[in-house]
Order: sequence, then structure tokens, then C-alpha cells
Amino acid sequence: MCGIVGYIGAKNATELLLNGLESLEYRGYDSAGIAVFDGEKLRVAKEKGRLSVLREVLSKSPAKGNLGIGHTRWATHGVPSVKNSHPHTNESGTIAVVHNGIIENHEALKAFLKDKGYVFVSETDTEVIPHLIDYYYDGDLLSAVQKAAKKLDGSYALGVVCSYEPDKIIAVRKDSPLIVGLGKDGNFIASDIPAILSETKDVYLLNDNEFVVLKKDGVSICDTNSAPIKKEVYKVQFSAQASQKEGYEHFMLKEIHEQPQAIRNTLRGRLDKNLNLNLDNIEFSDKIEKLYIVACGTAYHAGLVGKKAIETLAKIPCEVCLASEFRYGEPLINEHTAVLVVSQSGETADTLAVLRMAKKECNKVYAITNVVGSSIAREADYVFYTYAGPEIAVASTKAYTTQLVAFYLFAIHLAELKKTTVAPVLDELKNQLLNLDGAINEAIALDEKIKALSKKIAKEHDVYFLGRGLDYFVAMEASLKLKEISYIHSDAYASGELKHGPIALIEDGTVVISICTNPDISNKLNSNVKEVTARGAHTVGFTSCLSDTSAYNEIIELPKINPILAPLPAIIPLQLLAYHVCTAKGFDVDKPRNLAKSVTVE
Ligand code: G6P
Repeated sequence: MCGIVGYIGAKNATELLLNGLESLEYRGYDSAGIAVFDGEKLRVAKEKGRLSVLREVLSKSPAKGNLGIGHTRWATHGVPSVKNSHPHTNESGTIAVVHNGIIENHEALKAFLKDKGYVFVSETDTEVIPHLIDYYYDGDLLSAVQKAAKKLDGSYALGVVCSYEPDKIIAVRKDSPLIVGLGKDGNFIASDIPAILSETKDVYLLNDNEFVVLKKDGVSICDTNSAPIKKEVYKVQFSAQASQKEGYEHFMLKEIHEQPQAIRNTLRGRLDKNLNLNLDNIEFSDKIEKLYIVACGTAYHAGLVGKKAIETLAKIPCEVCLASEFRYGEPLINEHTAVLVVSQSGETADTLAVLRMAKKECNKVYAITNVVGSSIAREADYVFYTYAGPEIAVASTKAYTTQLVAFYLFAIHLAELKKTTVAPVLDELKNQLLNLDGAINEAIALDEKIKALSKKIAKEHDVYFLGRGLDYFVAMEASLKLKEISYIHSDAYASGELKHGPIALIEDGTVVISICTNPDISNKLNSNVKEVTARGAHTVGFTSCLSDTSAYNEIIELPKINPILAPLPAIIPLQLLAYHVCTAKGFDVDKPRNLAKSVTVE
């Protein structure tokens, strides 16, 4: 949540900051601001709303300078407004700060600072930081930031500038992402790589409590006591283009269409055409009796499918948990348990906290993540990268399908290690995974039919999704997609549960979308659909196996594939459905209201 960026060098800082913030807008977009040193003082410009509002204001009244910091906000403490926007400054405006994270002890710090005469103008937790730095400042910005950081509880990535020391930006991170970009004409800090990619591919990946002194011709890093830290330069593998729309109207549509390639990337080097599976020697001790799969949002839904694959193939009991619940739920973890965290960004605060908790008590911590060098990737015992490429749209699509592929490979790997499933069954799955392209492209080709269906769905207030087994998990993900970008109320139910309450919601015309990909239980689902049809529901079936479709008003034929892999193609038309409903309603597909892609606060 919240994106920060900073630049010092020979170029126009404002332009670089605004461009950087544009690629960070997925992290929050309810206000934006910059502070640029204009040769004499820090010029601060902040606006409520999207970055384009700030850009417009600055085009009329430019802020000129070669040093600056910028911020795009997802409000936590205080409503979206100009006064709550970052950068926040000390009273004299000589120190400016951008912050991503939450300062948990801000009330106590505020009381302390007020007592010393400091005056606060915003409702934010962040505002204590510039005042605290001001309190400690005696001519050495680094030292003042180090002293202030010692007083902060919570999470933060900070960029700090001071008009008395206009040759530097000081930055530090703790439990919030931050990287350094090493450019030809200056250097950068940013919450995420895409923000600096048009300028450089050379970055430092920072660890917690590392302090950065960013100058135009050099970067030094030290710890809280100023002991120097040596860092390796990490070369970014993807291009700036990968973070562009490349002709698509929206990132979400682009990312839906990228799924065949993204899945190939996940498989590459891991499964060869001779059906050899190579999972970077991921070990799994015989001591491990239970696997907790822990994640948030879409990654949690991927985990549900993963549990089924691992239990079916490797016979290892799995429990899937929401990270926010797991961390405070006193889970029964010990050396006989392992934790597998799933996170596209590798930075989600709750998931990262679970990883850290599990590392202390569990046998091993495994991670499935997309972002190379993310905190989760760096801290897990074993990392499985999905290599889906940058996912920019807030609604996750290719991250989900590649997480599923990761789970299938992991499940097959464990089944081979534990010899729990016979080779022909595993080979058949491997074969189908290698040849997924056909099914995935067939699913994408349903686009026109889905667009037609979306016209009806766009008029609804409530939409229900049903499924059994794996199809229930697909229903959950489909429902999440629809609600997060179209704002239509939607729920997913295991179809057998209908009679225990939800069926009371069905009226004449209520839309019920069911997913059916498993012939073994298709009759059971059919009976449930008939129950809602009898009560007037308008039923749409997404199916690869139903022979009796008499209970349905509309049928969308899904590609045929082994039922255990069926969630892969099944979710794609449902992603497209959410997309088309959203565009039909005229909403912002890539930046839905109230949401952010990377949730780095609890
Ligand atoms: C946010 C995003 C979701 C994502 C979830 C978990 O809510 O909007 O798309 O599934 O965070 O994020 P992660 O990066 O941990 O997968």
C-alpha cells in the first residue's frame, strides 16, 4: 500500500518522480504528492485523487530541481485529502518525508512531540516522522533518521530529504518494501522495480534496518550504527515494456491474455518433454506430518486448489489458512509441520508475518511467489518463483493461474518423493501440464460469448456462484474477481450448502453461475442447480462435462482437461466475465475503488 519514489541526479526530478509514481499507482491511488528541492527550499505539491490531478497542477506550475521524493497513497490513518497526503514536513518545511507502512506507536510519539511544542496538521501516523527527525536534527540527516527510526514501532519504508543537505536522500525500510535503483544520471529509491525500470535495471534489494544515503553519483548503505553494508547489484530480468499495456486497453486484459506465456514461464526448466520434473532440489523432510498453506486474497484461493492437489497426489494433510487469521490464531506448529506461504508480491504484511513466525517454529517454510527478491522470497527456506512477469492490475489473474501450476508441480514432486501416486498417473498430469496451451487458449477464445453474457450480468445487484470440490474454489475466485472490480454483490457457495441457508436468497431472476468440471460429481451439482431453477433463478453453467443441461438458461462450454487441472482453464472465462462487466459499467478496471494491489499493512 502506498508507493514511494525518490530521485537525485542530473535530470528533472519532477518528471522522473511522476513517471515512477505512475507505475506505483497500483499500490494506492487516493492522493499523490512530491517534494522537490528547487535550489533554495523544498517545494511540496500534493493533490487528492489520482496522480493525473497532481500532474495537471504541476504542468501549470512546475517544480524544478534535481532532488525529490514522491508518494502515491492508500489511506490508512486519515481520509484521502491534501493535508493527509505525503510528503509530510516539519513545521519549517525544511524536512520532508514519504512513508509506506504504519507507525503503530504514533499516538505516544505525537504526545511526546506535542509536549515539546510540535504542531500537527494532519490525521496521519506518518506526520510524527518529520517532526521526530526535526527533533533529533543537529546538522546530520542520516544520524537524525537513524535516531528517529529507533523510536518507531510498526512498518515503514521511508524517503527523507532536507533542504540543509540537498546533496542526498536518506532512506530506510522495516517490514515494507524498498529498493535502490542505480542509474547513469542519478540514483533512485522506490517501493517496487517497475518505478525505475525505464531508467535502470541495476538495483540493490534492501533488507530491514538498512539505511541508504543516496547521492547523485553514489549510494552507500549502512546499519543503524552506521557500520557500512556491502550489497550485490541485482540485474532486473524483465523489461520496462513488460510493465506497459502494449496495446491492450487495460492491464487486466493484457494479463489475462498473457496467461499461456506466463504458464510456460512457470513450467520452463522445471518440467521437460521427457517428463522429468526438476524442482530445484526442494526437500521435504519425512518428519513433516502436516502442511499449512497460508495466504491472502487470490493467493488463498490458489492455496485451496493446492491443498486438494497435494492431498490427492502426495497424501500429505494440508490446512489452508488466511494469513491474517493464522498469525493470531495460535496455530499448532512445530517441527512436524511445515508452512507454505503463497504471495504474488512477496510483500503482503500478514503473509510475511506468518513466514517469520513459522521460521521460528516449523520444520521448513516454503514460498510460492512471483516477485524475485521480494521479502518473502528472501526469507523462505525454499522459494518457488512463478515467473509470471509483472502483474499490474489490482485484480489478480496470471498470478493465480501460475500459482496453480506451481502447486501442481509441487504436488507431483512430493508425490514422487513420497511414492504416493503411481508414475502413469503423474505422467499423465505432467503431459497435460506441458500441453496446457490448447486448453488455456480455448478458454481465452470464449471472450465474445462472455462479453455477450456480461451485458446481462452488468445489470444485476447480486450474483451467486456455485461449485463442488475444486469447482467450489474456482467459484470463490470468480466471485472475488466480480465483486472487486464491478462492485456487484457476489458470494460463492459449495452447492451442497445451498439448502442450509443461501437458497433463501433466491428470487425470480436471481443470477446463479455454476461451475462443473468433474464428471464424478456433476449429477450432485445438477440437482442443486435444479433446486434454484425451481425457485426462479436465472442459471448459467460453465461446464466441461455436463450431459444434462436442461436446468440451465445458458451454458458456456469449458475446455476438457483432467479434472484435477480443471481450475486452470475454468477460471479464465470467469476472469473475462468480471472484466467485461466492469467495462460495461464504466468502472476503472485496473484501479478498483478502495483496493490496492500490494497490501503491506495489516
Ligand atoms: C491484495 C490484492 C489481491 C491479492 C492479495 C494478496 O488484496 O488486491 O489481488 O491476491 O492482496 O496479495 P499477494 O501479493 O500476497 O498475493
